[in-house]
Amino acid sequence: MHGNPLVLVTGGAGFIGSHTCVELLAHDWDVVVVDDHSNSSPRALERIEAVARRKLRGAYAVDLLDRPALSAVFDAHPVDAVVHFAARKAVGESVRMPAEYYDTNIGATTALLRVMGEHDVRRLVFSSSCSVYGDAARQPVDERAPARPTNPYAQSKHLCETVIADVARRRPGFSALSLRCFNPIGAHPGGLLGEDPRGEPGNLLPYIAQVAVRRRDHVPVFGDDYATPDGTGVRDYTHVLDVAEAHRLALRHVADRPGATVYNIGTGRGTSVLDLIAAFGDASGREIPYRIEGRRPGDVATLVADAHAVRNAWGRHATRGIADMCRDAWTFQQRNPRGYADPTTRPPEPRQPA
Ligand code: UD1
Repeated sequence: MHGNPLVLVTGGAGFIGSHTCVELLAHDWDVVVVDDHSNSSPRALERIEAVARRKLRGAYAVDLLDRPALSAVFDAHPVDAVVHFAARKAVGESVRMPAEYYDTNIGATTALLRVMGEHDVRRLVFSSSCSVYGDAARQPVDERAPARPTNPYAQSKHLCETVIADVARRRPGFSALSLRCFNPIGAHPGGLLGEDPRGEPGNLLPYIAQVAVRRRDHVPVFGDDYATPDGTGVRDYTHVLDVAEAHRLALRHVADRPGATVYNIGTGRGTSVLDLIAAFGDASGREIPYRIEGRRPGDVATLVADAHAVRNAWGRHATRGIADMCRDAWTFQQRNPRGYADPTTRPPEPRQPA
């Protein structure tokens, strides 16, 4: 044993979770992952260790709704803080399956809060979403804008923030920070870690990447009649490395500030669907066929971050650009055309296990 602080990461094998684990391991946190692998591969865990060149302290295939199993993980490790990613996250699916989304996303969060309370763990970083703003009246949107979720996924994230704030008011010394992340994309630059959704991708960038490697024949563009410059949806795509770093810095924030806070994590720049397809085409040198289709229920026209609050608090905010995001996502997609299941890709052994 050594003296590093220990963080439990829920959803640590997922896209943002895995990159955050690497970031935390690189900054002398010990990391325990809890993930039910419902939308992630256990192989992501090997990749985390290979990229970070350190071992995880533990990894448990546990559904957060299984409180006794979750409690056993807290019994087994002296957890200092929790970073909570585990959730279902596809907007379209959430419109089709609202009960499942509320059950999983809110149930997981309340179970986690109860187990944290039972083990007197008082620091929580919650990975929330820009989607809580919904159809915000003004862009870019800051943290004071009212929450107006337009789909069950977004509503579930907002309800989780509310539950966390209520708990923070009641529990002495409890400190929580909810990060409203704006469309994380990209990958770790080495090509070992990236986004590997199961089945048909629910988000735009992985869809584009799978078209680029010809796993799918075209990108469906959901609507070209929005009030945006080219008619397609505009989002604040943010490099997953910047998002991962924000979660690490958030752990410093919750170390000494009781109460509940909310910060936007985004770049402040908007990119349309067609812009992103073109940028990925440039990064990959491949033609990306697309077809205009109808709007997707629950979508909004524009969502771009005002990132001043986090920049004022921490002296930095997400700055990597779209070209970097596309290049890194393309490197991952090329090296892992079928994701982590690809038999042709083997991660190197970690060189310095902790
Ligand atoms: C949503 C959430 C966001 C969250 C993310 C997590 C909203 C407004 N945002 O992002 O907070 O981080 O899910 O998964 O709810 N599109 C296509 N074709 C596709 C897929 C998407 O044209 O095949 C379009 C969408 O209409 C949208 C844009 O691409 O304009 C981005 O969509 P997506 O990647 O799914 O993310 P959001 O829905 O913005």
